[in-house]
This record gives sequence, C-alpha cells and structure tokens, in this order.
Amino acid sequence: MKIDILTLFPEMFVGVLNNSILKKAQEKEAVTIQAHNFRDYSENKHKNVDDYPYGGGEGMVLTPQPIFDAVDQLTSHKEKKPRIILMCPQGETFTQKKAEELANEEHLIFICGHYEGYDERIREHLVTDEISIGDYVLTGGELASMVIVDSVVRLLPDVLGNELSHMRDSFSTGYLEHPQYTRPADFRGMVVPEVLLSGNHKHIEEWRSKESLKRTFQRRPDLIKKEVLSAEQIKWLKEFENE
Ligand code: ADE
Repeated sequence: MKIDILTLFPEMFVGVLNNSILKKAQEKEAVTIQAHNFRDYSENKHKNVDDYPYGGGEGMVLTPQPIFDAVDQLTSHKEKKPRIILMCPQGETFTQKKAEELANEEHLIFICGHYEGYDERIREHLVTDEISIGDYVLTGGELASMVIVDSVVRLLPDVLGNELSHMRDSFSTGYLEHPQYTRPADFRGMVVPEVLLSGNHKHIEEWRSKESLKRTFQRRPDLIKKEVLSAEQIKWLKEFENE
C-alpha cells in the first residue's frame, strides 16, 4: 500500500510514523508512507495556500490549486484511482469497518487542513471520502489522519506478528474484547478466573465468548444485534439482564 498525506505540518508525523508498528510496517515494505507539504505545490509567488472567503466572514479558506496539483502529481495514470480522503469534522464518522475497507486499497491520499476551511470544489470534485474521527473539533486534520493510518496499517498482511490478533479485536468481531490475565495467578489476593488455568480449551473459549458478550452488554449494548444471536447467547443475555 502507498499512503500520501498532504499537510502544512509534515513534521507532526515524524514521531508517529517512525516508531512501533508503523515503523516496522514500512521497514517490511508492507506500506510506504510520505507526508508532503502542499505549500510546495502553490503557484502563488508568496507560496500562499489560503485566501479570504468570498462573501466575507471570519477565517481563511484553503484554495483549490495547491491541493489539486499535489493530488495530480501523486497519482500515476496507470494505477487504480486512489482514495482521496478529506479530514474534517463534517465527514462520516470513522469506524473499524471503514478501516477494513481502506485496508483493501492500493493507494490512499489524505488531505489535512489546519484551522482553515476547504474551498467547496475540493469536496465536490476531488475527494472520494470525507472522514471525521469523532464529534469534536481538532486544530487540524493531522492527528485525525494519523489515527486512521495507524488503524489501517495494522490490518495489512504481515504487519502484526500474530496474524490472528486483530481478528479477535474489539469491533472486528462486533463485540468488545473479553478480559485478559497474565501471571501471577494470585496478585495481592486478586485471583485469575479458575477456568483460564484449567487447560480446557473448549471451556476457555466458551468463557471468553460469554465475557465478551457480557462486556458488550454492559458497556456498548448498541453493538448487540439481537437477530444474529445464537440460542446460547440469548440465554447468556437473559442472565446478564437478571444480574
Ligand atoms: N479536523 C478537525 N476536527 C476533526 C475531526 N474530528 N476529525 C477529522 N478531522 C478533523
């Protein structure tokens, strides 16, 4: 996968892209990630990238030229059309499902505004997706795009050591993850559930499924789709409701 990020603050990405899994993913060549300053593409003699809004009003608006030109330069004519993602609080809210969808693409281009608004022609004629990471306003799209890059790259083949570890994640399965324990079995009198020490894999799997459903019931009941529950899960749900 190739990821290009258009931003006025490429330095913001240095720490995030050069540590941990994102660093390893690039070393393994599962992905190439580059942050580009779209000011470099400005044709304005002062390298301006924004201007006053037509009709007046507060704030500045990012002009279309540097962003359209940067995207043109980063898109090779041979490739499948890239996903061009505008980071903004008005976009669709990011989810694990969207991360999985983006992980199937060959090329992602992120556009990050900072304080300014975007000229509407960028929205209408350039981007394929507008994404928000939640109902709050950040100073810019940079942090939001890092969240998305992180969640997409960890889904690429061979990026996580244990191929299955993300399959079990909260949200991939549709339910929140079951509790986990490690040694010691007794820490200051707080003990690990007996079943996990039993070595009985069938019982352990059953315990995990039940705890996963319980946690989802307690914390995110909106994620439970009653129509797809097994008879056993329905029985468990009744137990939780009566507790
Ligand atoms: N830019 C500013 N706030 C944002 C948000 N919540 N998500 C994505 N981009 C943003």
